[in-house]
Amino acid sequence: MKDIRIAVAGLGFAGALHARAVAHAAGLDRGPHAPGLHLAAAADPDPDRRAAAARAFAGAQLHGDWRALADDPAIDAVVIALPNDLHAEAGAACLAAGKAVLVEKPLAPDAPGVRRLAQAAARAGRTASAGYVFRHSPALAWAIGEAAAGAFGAIQHVALTHAEDYGAGGAPLGWRGDAARAGYGALGDLGAHAVSIAIALCGPVSGAAALQSPPPAAGLTDDRTSALLAFASGASGMLHASRTALGRKMRLAVEISAERASLAFDHERANEIEVCMNGQAGFARRLCGPDMPGYGLVLPAAGHGLGFADLFTLQMARWTRDIAAGAPGDLDFALQVEAALQAVRASARTGVWTPALQEAAA
Ligand SMILES: NC(=O)c1ccc[n+]([C@@H]2O[C@H](COP(=O)([O-])OP(=O)(O)OC[C@H]3O[C@@H](n4cnc5c(N)ncnc54)[C@H](O)[C@@H]3O)[C@@H](O)[C@H]2O)c1
Repeated sequence: MKDIRIAVAGLGFAGALHARAVAHAAGLDRGPHAPGLHLAAAADPDPDRRAAAARAFAGAQLHGDWRALADDPAIDAVVIALPNDLHAEAGAACLAAGKAVLVEKPLAPDAPGVRRLAQAAARAGRTASAGYVFRHSPALAWAIGEAAAGAFGAIQHVALTHAEDYGAGGAPLGWRGDAARAGYGALGDLGAHAVSIAIALCGPVSGAAALQSPPPAAGLTDDRTSALLAFASGASGMLHASRTALGRKMRLAVEISAERASLAFDHERANEIEVCMNGQAGFARRLCGPDMPGYGLVLPAAGHGLGFADLFTLQMARWTRDIAAGAPGDLDFALQVEAALQAVRASARTGVWTPALQEAAA
């Protein structure tokens, strides 16, 4: 199996995590036929970020713009960790140049950008995935797998919160505060992750009713979004995404009510999940360990704990496994998340219940 030469477009918060994940994933025992992984190149216009990358990632070629990565025939796969408005153009160009892509979420600020990426992926036939990194949380991946196997019975309701405080007190938001660049505020930045977990558990969202604050207006992005969700499965959901929740740093909280079980998870305590099986009085705390998906690749000992950066390592391992196998990746799943985000945003604009229009990748 040929080694995979990976590049990262954008060396900000997410890009640096992806770049580090290449070496971390390469250092895992991924099986006898797993390809070698190399960070071949990265791009960012910020000279300080390139200088930091030159110190951290010896041997990687550094460029000032993502286009140099699309143009380099020696690169096999590109992570798109750019501001949201550049995802579709960069992702489509890399796919057209024959590269696999992993595109950060949300896929684009608007529906035409999402469609452009989906069509480029369908034409290219390369692995195209999205950065829904919390699907690689061992506790959540375990719950998703058990739910799919029917261990909890039908899911009736999910309560979803993704709250942080990076936007509290008028903190500068950079491109995130610019509607044309970001498309979404807290909804796309944080709510997208919570919705990705809900869809992995319950299947596609069929419709939504939502409120946003500040109310939708030209040029503004939401600090807070609250929404009622309906799933095609018949389950219901409540979503709250906030970037102004003082004291909250990474509260991705998911509560699941199902026929035969209830579960509660919060990423601020990422290495445990509370489970109540039918007949139990209250919840039992279950610590993460190698019996949960992904955990054993990183650590052999239960209860020692994985962190946020480990999720990027597991995501890199999964994406490169798909590339080596010629698998399509999970862009289809990401399109379901986009459909839900678009319905929530449209409902907040119009004040009416809004169906989620699913778009196929092909
Ligand atoms: N999966 C996650 O948990 C997670 C976490 C954070 C961010 N994200 C997503 O990752 C993306 C980036 O977010 P971030 O927090 O890293 O933002 P950021 O602002 O920290 O980084 C973006 C980087 O892109 C660079 N850039 C801008 N134009 C470029 C160009 N033409 N070529 C190359 N680089 C260019 C910027 O200089 C900047 O360094 C967003 O879509 C965001 O939603 C995902």
